[in-house]
Parts: sequence; C-alpha cells; structure tokens
Amino acid sequence: MQISFSSAALPKTGAIILPVFDEAKPTAAFTAVDEASGGAVSRAMKASGFKAKTGKSLEIVSPGDLPNPFVFLIGAGARKEFDALAAQNLGGAGAGKALATREKSAVFALDGFSGGKLSDGALAARIAHGARLKTYRFDKYRTKEEKDDKPTLTKIAVNTPAKDAKTEYGALDKLGDGVFLTRDLVSEPANILYPDEFAKRCKKLTALGVKVTVLGEAEMKKLGMGSLLGVGQGSVRDSKLVAMEWMGGKKSDAPIALVGKGVTFDTGGISLKPAGGMEDMKWDMGGAGAVTGAMAAIAGRKAKANVVGVVGLVENMPDGNAQRPGDVVTSMSGQTIEVLNTDAEGRLVLADALWWAQETYGAKTVIDLATLTGAIIVALAHEFGGMFTKDDKLAKQLDAAGEASGDKLWRMPLTKAHDEMIKSEIADMQNIGGKGAGSSSAAAFLGRFIKEGVSWAHLDIAGMAWATKEKAICPKGGTGYGVALLDEFVRANFE
Ligand code: BES
Ligand code: MN
Ligand code: ZN
Repeated sequence: MQISFSSAALPKTGAIILPVFDEAKPTAAFTAVDEASGGAVSRAMKASGFKAKTGKSLEIVSPGDLPNPFVFLIGAGARKEFDALAAQNLGGAGAGKALATREKSAVFALDGFSGGKLSDGALAARIAHGARLKTYRFDKYRTKEEKDDKPTLTKIAVNTPAKDAKTEYGALDKLGDGVFLTRDLVSEPANILYPDEFAKRCKKLTALGVKVTVLGEAEMKKLGMGSLLGVGQGSVRDSKLVAMEWMGGKKSDAPIALVGKGVTFDTGGISLKPAGGMEDMKWDMGGAGAVTGAMAAIAGRKAKANVVGVVGLVENMPDGNAQRPGDVVTSMSGQTIEVLNTDAEGRLVLADALWWAQETYGAKTVIDLATLTGAIIVALAHEFGGMFTKDDKLAKQLDAAGEASGDKLWRMPLTKAHDEMIKSEIADMQNIGGKGAGSSSAAAFLGRFIKEGVSWAHLDIAGMAWATKEKAICPKGGTGYGVALLDEFVRANFE
C-alpha cells in the first residue's frame, strides 16, 4: 500500500473519506467537497439522519456534480476527546470502506479536521497509520482467488495542510512494518515456519542494523539448556535461540531484554491436545513474533535505546523420542524441573531463554511475551494481555504504554501463594500448578528464572495474538499485538 501526504487540491478520482465531528460547524474539507457535489453530500447526510458518532459512517455513491465515485463520511465523535487512538481507528474505518469498493485510490480529506489532543500533523499521521494497518492481507497461498475478490486499493493519500504530517508519520511507518512482520510470522503455517525458518526471518533484521545471533542445539546443549531442549526433543526440526541486538543508546547502558515464546507448533507433546482447534497452535509463537516485530520497529526508527530481543524457538511434537510426563530436566540456571505435563511447554522454553538473556546481556529490565495459557483467555477474553509483575513502577509504565498504544494490558496477581503451587516432590519445581490460577502459577514458574534485582514483567498474550473477528485496525488473523506496546514502552521510558 502506498501512503502519501499532500496539501494540494483533492484528486478528482478515487474515494473521498471525510471525517466528521459531532458539531455544527463543518470542516473546510467537508465544505469544499459538499460544494463540489452541489450540496449532495450535506443533503445525503440530512436525509439519512447521520450522527457523527465514533463508529458510525455513511456511504454516499457518486454525489451530485462530484467526479469522485464515493464519499465516505466517518463519525469522529467529540473534537476535544479526539486522540491518537481515535485517529488510528478512524483511519482503519475509512480504509475499511475504501477496501470494500473497486477503487484503486482513496484520500482522507482533513483540511480543518483538528483534534483536541494532537497536532494536525500527528493526527494526520495516526490516521494514515491506522488506515495502513487495516489494509494488511495474508494471501500468499491463495493461488485461485477471483480477480473480483481481490482488493483493488493500492494508494491511500492524506490531504492535510499540516506541513509536518509526513515527518510525524516516519516512526509510525516503521511501527507498521514491525506489526506487518509480526502478522506475517503469526499467520505462516507451521510446515513453513519452523525454528530454522523463523531464525532466517530474524536474520533479515540485519538490514536495519540489528546484530542477529542464532544458537543451534549443540550450543544450547553446551550451555545446559535442558529445559528448552526437552521441549523440542520430539521434533525433527532443530530448536533455535535467536538474539537480536539494537544498541542505539549509551554504550554504558545495560540493554532492556524482550523475550518471546516461539513454539512454532504446539501439539501438546505426549500430553497431546485434542484435535479440534489444534491448528490454532501454529500461532503459539506469537510472543516471539511480537518481539521480532518490535525489534524491527525499534531498529527501523533508530531508537536511542539499547534493546535486545531473545526468542526461544521450538516445535512441541509427540514422538518416540519426545519428553515424557514425569521427566526431570535441568535448566541452564541449574534448577531442576519435573515436567508433569508436556503441554505446559512455553514456560520450559522461556526458563532458559530468560536466564540466557540475563546472563549474556546483564539486562536489568526484562519483559517476556508468550501465548502461555488458555486460562488467561478465560479471565480476560480478547480484550487485554495479562500482565504479571511484582514491580509496581514497571506495572505503571507498561499500563501507560498499553493505554497509549492501544495494546491494552490488565494486571493479574503474582504472589508467594502462586509460587507455592509449583512445588515438586522430586525436583526444584514442577511445570504445572494445581487446579486454579493457571496463568498465575505459570508466571510464578517464570519468576524462578529471574535474577535478584532484575525488574521483570511477564505478558500472557494468548488471547491477543490472533483475532477471529476483524477489528478497527486489523483484519481477522494475526494481530501484531505487542509490537506497538513494546515500541511505546521503550520510547516513553528509555529514550
Ligand atoms: N500454547 C498453550 C496456551 C494457549 C492456549 C495459547 C490457547 C493460545 C490459545 C500452552 O502451551 C498450553 O498448552 N497451556 C496449557 C497449560 C496447562 C497444561 C497447564 C493450557 O493452558 O491448557
Ligand atoms: Mn502447550
Ligand atoms: Zn504452547
């Protein structure tokens, strides 16, 4: 999708998208389009009783004298409440309308459309960003799609007098690249995207100035990563650990570590999952996907911070050589784990990835992302990622980043009681808790692999990585959840 900004006159072809506030005075852009249509736009608005509330829209086909085939009015609600997220969502709504036509181009007509909370340039840039995110499509395996079913839209223009719109869009363009990378990774089937292929895609970040290191099974064995390796033991695909370093900050600053669960397919292993819905487990690498996309966004915009992304990549398969329930493995930290359920594998992968990240980089802030538990979906559905941390300051920072980015988080309990749920009869801990609080006992397990003095949060994104319904700025499928959150977390606190 080509995105451009212009302050010239509106084009005479393509769809026109007109945002409308719920106030009496129309914007300059509205007046211009309405006049060019000979008043047809305002007549249509009146006749339909259009209310400019958020989420409302009106489609006007070929109004009056206007040469353009469509005008879409998009409700923007109250001007003084209009903020960055509202702008993104509005961009998504407008793009959604344009995508449903057979037009090749669409223009957002923003002259006079000023919000209460953003500069005009920033507002235009956010609209463009939301619009672009909405146009994502994963169609590489559709070889027989009818031409008429494929969207025709290739250009989105933003018409605004704001001179700085394009500059404001710069970092968002990189953020969009990161989100698209994550959506691609999450959408790929597991026969295509297995650990080695995932590592290869990480390698591509080298072009952005990221230093990428890939560890294979032999190296991980030497390091004593028995916990991660045990999960991949039943797979014919080799497990990998990838580190992506972006050192844009001061040399003396320890990097922030972003650590992701990258189970490229989770059958459950010997504790096999039921067949129904198992295909969803191709996106059990959503945490690693978010970390990789975030690294692309952070490096892409040349963030002035030191950040390292670490992803543990394994495939969890049942096999004659697979790990058994009851096996005891030794993690890189030296702690032993009784594997009571081979389907609680994400935490086993993260245990070694977390420890390695702290040992290797001396990270003092560690955030991990994982599609870790079904229980978090029971608690939070598909509205929030679950946040587990004992650090109130970090919780605040992450909450704020969630609010600002739209990747919302809800803090969940993590206490000594949850840690007690993973006591083992035979090893230092077991990999499952009791009946209740499955997301919290999983978090407590991860906490055993965090060093003293390290500020750490675990984000359970099982409900957020994939959408079965289309959203404001996202078609159904991989969402890219976490990329904007991490990018904003780094921007707001470390630059
Ligand atoms: N990958 C799953 C969690 C999951 C479930 C992610 C649904 C996305 C959607 C994880 O590895 C898993 O299997 N967790 C088990 C843990 C249990 C065995 C303690 C679960 O949640 O049932
Ligand atoms: Mn599992
Ligand atoms: Zn899993």
